Amino acid sequence: MAPTKKAEKPAEIKAIYNPPEHIIKNATVREYDKLYRRSIEDREGFWAEQAELLDWYQKWDQVLDDSQAPFYRWFTGAKTNIIQNAIDRHLKTARRNKLAIIWEGEPGDTRTFSYHALNREVSKLANVLLNMGVKRGEIVTIYMPQIPELAFAMLACAKIGAAHSVVYGGFSVEALAGRITDAQSRVLITADGGYRRGRATKLKEIANEAMQRAATIEVCITVKRTGEEVYMENDRDFWYHDLMSMPIAGHKCETVPMDSEEMLFILYTSGTTGQPKGLVHTHGGYAVYTATTHRMVFDIKEEDRWWCAADPGWITGHSYIVYAPLINGATVIMYEGAPNHPYPNRWWQMVEKYGINILYTSPTAIRGLMRFGRAWPDRHDLSSLRLLGTVGETINPEAWRWYHEVIGRGNCPIMDTWWQTETGGFMITPLPITALKPGSVTFPFFGIEIGVVDEQGQEVATGADGNLVIKAPWPGMARTIHGDPDRFLETYWKDYKKQGWYKAGDAARIDEDGYVWIIGRTDDVIKVAGYRLGSAEVESALASHEAVTEAAAIGLPHEIKGHAIHAFVILRAGLSGSSQLESELKEHVGREMGPIAKPESIEFVDMLPKTRSGKIMRRVLKARALGEDEGDLTTLEE
Ligand code: PRX
Repeated sequence: MAPTKKAEKPAEIKAIYNPPEHIIKNATVREYDKLYRRSIEDREGFWAEQAELLDWYQKWDQVLDDSQAPFYRWFTGAKTNIIQNAIDRHLKTARRNKLAIIWEGEPGDTRTFSYHALNREVSKLANVLLNMGVKRGEIVTIYMPQIPELAFAMLACAKIGAAHSVVYGGFSVEALAGRITDAQSRVLITADGGYRRGRATKLKEIANEAMQRAATIEVCITVKRTGEEVYMENDRDFWYHDLMSMPIAGHKCETVPMDSEEMLFILYTSGTTGQPKGLVHTHGGYAVYTATTHRMVFDIKEEDRWWCAADPGWITGHSYIVYAPLINGATVIMYEGAPNHPYPNRWWQMVEKYGINILYTSPTAIRGLMRFGRAWPDRHDLSSLRLLGTVGETINPEAWRWYHEVIGRGNCPIMDTWWQTETGGFMITPLPITALKPGSVTFPFFGIEIGVVDEQGQEVATGADGNLVIKAPWPGMARTIHGDPDRFLETYWKDYKKQGWYKAGDAARIDEDGYVWIIGRTDDVIKVAGYRLGSAEVESALASHEAVTEAAAIGLPHEIKGHAIHAFVILRAGLSGSSQLESELKEHVGREMGPIAKPESIEFVDMLPKTRSGKIMRRVLKARALGEDEGDLTTLEE
């Protein structure tokens, strides 16, 4: 379990990168300070102005209803549907024939959809869902590879007022079954599989197993992607292409006007307990927030080709592959597979082939590609790129500079955006006009008021670490945790209840120039390759193996993934650890949760450090593994 070499600390970097003249001159937002002050002094006025840029069936009575804080409500009284803005309004303009989605599969097959064609696919699928009895407000689970049908499925649900719950295609049986049950989904949309590193994944097989564990599914619709043989159950399983070619699919479908605050989707994310939480986002505020942040931060121009190289199964994909870019009428690039398949130039080939203008990805992906050397990107014409972006974890200066110099050829500013599943969209982020410090997420977005505070809520000194809090509501914020409003209060709003602040769960620092630096999570959430996993989830997957009595999981630094999972396991009496059992346990976690959750290493131990009340002290395990000071041990049981 060797921690990686000591890296340069982001906060020690002093260099400042000024944006090129031509970027500043053409930027959508040319001035930050004044507009920021205005957006804070008149927050509701600012958001109303942004909301005016969208279409509404009926305007709001009130911009912000805080009468039941922290259960805030935005644009109350308004009627809209995110589809009204993401598709319908474009059909009335020249955008009708503009490309909405350019998709490329890993094997190299391509498909493109204009806004007109997108509307057709979504309308037909919406009719199919209506025919399957899908009702407004019910939650449809989607478990798919990165193919256009994934976006169609999300959009079709929204169009008829159903909510979607997308489960990341890299997750496995346990994770899928748990999420289906929590959402009480009656309908599942999936695919036979998808392509990843030249292999066909077996999604339908996993879905079948999950449906056995989660009894609520009555209808399962399967897209044929790989053509591999799969088991289909009579009366439950239907092929997508069969349904779409039946008369019930029709070709027209009316978008259902929704209340602004009606649920658009839930998205599960990891927290500190084993049970993932389904965060609820709504039609009105989410549309306004994601569209505004996308337009201003990435300076979206009519002719731009936008590539957010994330998976739609995560919030990044929901907000910035599907909803925001479509609302802004952009051309979205989608790619199915691995960045280095068949060769490490796959992404750079994509940039050149499609003339991509903006690339938004994660530090993990950058580090992964950097490892193959600059000869791969250097073979390609990347001159179409104007802006770059990153998200998911703090970017180390080495990766930042490589991204900036090799991919951006020194003249594409990097938008390092800090946000969360809970926030819906970018919260702390540069604008194209911002002078950048590598590794800093710079300044709060318009309307966002932040603080870096101690446990009592006092602002910490300049340059000191503290808890990151958000001091006032914003339209994109999650409204609650599905089925568990108490947990919503407890997780985010309890610690600074007196002040009414949202606690992000991250430690941060603000330097003498006001730049924000994100240090990392303060709870038991581990960011593996930018993906969010809970220690408790990994531990319960390990404990579900018959050889295991108890387990603890922590995240330790990893050169490519940022962090990797290391586990400590107590075996059942009479059993002893071996490298064979170690690999078996890793496989077991992979099978239960998905490959990203597989521990990097497993150590067999006789005891785990615990508090007197029986809680595992993961911080002690972590400090020991890193050879650091173990801190306060007074609560440690002998
Ligand atoms: O720790 C922060 C980290 O990712 C967490 C949120 O994870 P998730 O809900 O999966 O959303 C990720 C994509 C929006 C945060 O609490 N994080 C996200 N962006 C950054 C970041 N850490 C540092 N810099 C970022 N730009």
